[in-house]
Amino acid sequence: MAKIIDGKKISSDIKDEVKSEVEALNKKGIRVSLAVVLVGDDPASAVYVRNKKKACEYCGIRSISHELPGDTSEETLIKLVDELNADPEVDGILVQLPLPGHIDEKKVTDRILPEKDVDGFHPVNVGRLSMGDPGFVSCTPQGIIELLKRSDISIAGKECVVIGRSNIVGKPLAMLLLRENGTVTVCHSRTSDLKEVSKRADILCAAIGKTEFVTSEYVKEGACVIDVGINRGEDGKLKGDVAYDDVLPHVSAITPVPGGVGPMTIACLMKNCLIAAKRKAGE
Ligand code: GUN
Repeated sequence: MAKIIDGKKISSDIKDEVKSEVEALNKKGIRVSLAVVLVGDDPASAVYVRNKKKACEYCGIRSISHELPGDTSEETLIKLVDELNADPEVDGILVQLPLPGHIDEKKVTDRILPEKDVDGFHPVNVGRLSMGDPGFVSCTPQGIIELLKRSDISIAGKECVVIGRSNIVGKPLAMLLLRENGTVTVCHSRTSDLKEVSKRADILCAAIGKTEFVTSEYVKEGACVIDVGINRGEDGKLKGDVAYDDVLPHVSAITPVPGGVGPMTIACLMKNCLIAAKRKAGE
């Protein structure tokens, strides 16, 4: 029987751990705060931001909300980031992506001070990750490592295959698996014989963005399959990058969608906010 990795339960455990650490900091007079910036009225972004603010409230983290109209200029947004960088009350800064087309996302995320970059998107933090130095790590890949560790799935010495090479998931996930002593292969749209490569994996991570792309033909018997996809099916239901029902009989462990990787992103964001505040306070 395959183990169904319960991301809801694990994320809830992490939020409880953060909450108790925040309470301990509060007793020493240290507060934890996150500035959340949303530009425009993208409905999916609005839901993500609402959930992030709800998680902050649960953990005792103050969320400072900045909701700006969709026609906000790049200059105005950069000015706000500069103010938040300079504000001693702000521990972490999150600018929700995607930004409207007239704003250069990279210019904005690069402007956030690395020590307040709780998303782990800044080149300095990406560099620190690749060097194995302490910094901030992108929340979704960090969440995947937590899922594996807390499900007692060892990474060291395993064949790990990541399908997808995005800056937010695929590349940092590969770095983290390597840091955990996995043997890592990163596949993408130009990989020849993707099925053959995927089938080598003890741990197969699908971050492609294509509904139910990974079928049983891609999966080795007894592999652990991590599904990072969140796609809206034609029936309106959330679907992963993995054809769950087809793959399930062949795996030793798998993450469902929803309720697998998804909830881990916000839990790790809370963790990063706590780390930012502790570092700032010299804790
Ligand atoms: N948009 C989708 N995912 C994310 C995320 O993890 N962080 C930010 N800032 N924007 C996102």
